Amino acid sequence: MSFVPIRKILDGCCEDQKVALRGWVYRKREGKQTVFLIIRDSSGIIQCPVKKESKAWSQAEKVTIESSLTLEGTVKKDTRAPGGWEIVTEKISIIGLAELFPITKSQSEEFLRDVRHLWLRSRRMNLVMKVRSEVQRFTHEFFKRQEFVEVSPPMFITSACEGGSTLFGLKYFDQNMYLTQSAQLYLEILIYSLEKVYCVAPSFRAEKSRTIRHLTEYWHIEAEQAFADMKDLMLLEEELMAYICRRTVESCKREFEELAADISKLASVKTPFPKITYTEAIEKLNAKQFKIEWGDDLGYEEEKALADNFGKPFFIHDYPKQIQAFYCKTPKDNPQLAMSTDMLVPRIGEISTGGAREDDKEKLVARLKEMGLREKDYDWYIDLRRYGTVPHVGFGMGLERLLTWMLDLENIIDAIPFPRTVRRFYP
Ligand code: 4AD
Ligand code: MG
Repeated sequence: MSFVPIRKILDGCCEDQKVALRGWVYRKREGKQTVFLIIRDSSGIIQCPVKKESKAWSQAEKVTIESSLTLEGTVKKDTRAPGGWEIVTEKISIIGLAELFPITKSQSEEFLRDVRHLWLRSRRMNLVMKVRSEVQRFTHEFFKRQEFVEVSPPMFITSACEGGSTLFGLKYFDQNMYLTQSAQLYLEILIYSLEKVYCVAPSFRAEKSRTIRHLTEYWHIEAEQAFADMKDLMLLEEELMAYICRRTVESCKREFEELAADISKLASVKTPFPKITYTEAIEKLNAKQFKIEWGDDLGYEEEKALADNFGKPFFIHDYPKQIQAFYCKTPKDNPQLAMSTDMLVPRIGEISTGGAREDDKEKLVARLKEMGLREKDYDWYIDLRRYGTVPHVGFGMGLERLLTWMLDLENIIDAIPFPRTVRRFYP
């Protein structure tokens, strides 16, 4: 007999038929005449009652939570069963009898994080991981439709992209190297051959802040485009976002429902997104309880206040140059500004940063000096401006921040299977 995925049974494939299942014991409730096993596989959970007179009775009595098994029985419709179906069980073969499982009901978040390797079996994490996989699929789908070429950046790097304070250093044989903070500079190299490139790859930040939106290792969706300007950039980003939301609504209805996450906010994501300048953002904030000077960076509280007010994704653009990275281009008519833009969403704040890159060699070198960076560390990057420079733009979006927003997760650490933070790096 071949094994049927539980999802198919819940979808009504096998009424009154004999089926075989394989999976794990999710819950067990013992009565005098019946043992109720709830069995899970990758696709779902289903109730499997075992009657005292069944041949499976002794195995059902013996089996423990999280034991692995195969089971045979007859599918019955039953409105009292979770999901509306059950399998009246006739045979059980235990594969691995589990020891006493440490996770029981109502345990602290802290404990669940300590036993992440076991907690990943939970229904909740199962569903989050499925949505994550779909969001990755739609990201690739989007860029391929837009004729971007997927490229593979290095993780070992020699100079910072986003400032030294969040660089992880490491010994590379006899040399000092770092873990990448962003693939941007490498994507910039590749546009001179491929024009439109993207990647989804890990980025690392030695980030000490303990917030709901910071990891030390996260997955970064990054793209870079030649012969393009700020308008093209914001269009690309908002179309990506709208595409991911629309496709996820179609594909993950069931997961959102079971996770009790609000899918309607995704369905209402429509282009064009609202766009305000940094200066307008400050005015809005100062009209509330904030006191921000032009030139101050926006922190989480400020971003959250603005984003909650919009209630949907939007852009802030034209930031002061002094709070932006060395590679940002300045507009001709206003050298105080950087052609840079962040996308923000409610509750999380910033989920992407992008902008136009300085394509003039002299200006780039001057900017490196101004920021106290060594020209020789960026020699190959300056080469790109020496040989056939072109105007270009690009952005980076944190996959886990995106998921935290999409799924209403309380904390970013639930958007990734093995979170790394200042305090957590096990297992
Ligand atoms: O704003 P960031 O630092 O920008 C860059 O790295 C650019 N070089 C990207 C580019 O233009 N290609 O990072 C981009 C995004 C942030 O908006 C945020 O979503 C995410 O990466 N991010 C983090 N996500 C989780 N944990 C952290 N510690 C993160 N730091 C940044
Ligand atoms: Mg940023």
